[in-house]
Amino acid sequence: MSRIAYVNGQYREMRDATVNIEDRGYQFADGVYEVCEVRNGQIVDFPKHMKRLQRSLSELRIAMPMPLASLQIVVHEVIRRNRVGYGIVYLQVTRGVSRRDHAFPIKPVKPAVVVTARNLSFTKNQETAAHGIGVITVPENRWPRVDIKSVSLLPNVLAKQQARENGAYEAWFVDAEGLVTEGSSSNAWIVTKDGRVVTRSAEQGILAGITRSVLTDAMAALQVKFEERPFTPQEAYEAAEAFVTASSQIVMPVVRIDGRNIGNGTPGAVSKRLREEFHRFSSFS
Ligand code: PDD
Repeated sequence: MSRIAYVNGQYREMRDATVNIEDRGYQFADGVYEVCEVRNGQIVDFPKHMKRLQRSLSELRIAMPMPLASLQIVVHEVIRRNRVGYGIVYLQVTRGVSRRDHAFPIKPVKPAVVVTARNLSFTKNQETAAHGIGVITVPENRWPRVDIKSVSLLPNVLAKQQARENGAYEAWFVDAEGLVTEGSSSNAWIVTKDGRVVTRSAEQGILAGITRSVLTDAMAALQVKFEERPFTPQEAYEAAEAFVTASSQIVMPVVRIDGRNIGNGTPGAVSKRLREEFHRFSSFS
């Protein structure tokens, strides 16, 4: 079955789904995106993703490309046309097409919208979670506005590649103070030996993850002790457990950081429980 993408008002086969070479997303990474999990053909926590999309757009002074209700219809249609049961949907909005000039176009242009969706293997994802993943730490080298979910992801791309080349799955950025900020495409968490779940505050230095936000609600309801503060790689090495969160992985146990086993080197009980319980606390659209 060929995949279908939505591109600026049209549903097209992937191979014909093209954008203008003067799209500012292509030339300047002048745009933002969202990735949502799809379960049973439904979008997980869509309203929260849309709220963050609107915030990212407004921080960059890009207009919403269409009313929210229309965007939801488009996203559902892409999921339907690609027959995605379990997988992800990707939504990207760029400032639009204009002759190359760093400054914003003088005459406002229409923001460009691309939506794609694809199936993921549920079994494979569960297997990865059952084994846990490895993480490396790398120096933070991103711009300070990582709160904006921008498509400008070069440091993230390079960090992820470094992880892969070191036999790991994710890279955690460590800031100038020696504190972990977040992963190249996920938020970073540890569980202390006395059972407190720790992650950095979303106020600074990280993307306010939607999975992160739903998980904090889940932990309150499940009476899991939670501390919002930064931690060092050393504290992570000595932690009982570690995990990452992202829409594409939900709660993914981390069993190795910089080559050192975390806990006994297998996914921890708290991480496993939070992964199992997560969807009880998410919304489905
Ligand atoms: N990444 N931090 C970064 C830098 C991210 O890129 C992501 C998501 C997250 C987690 O956010 P959320 O829980 O809202 O997915 C944190 C997506 C999945 C991606 O780029 O593919």
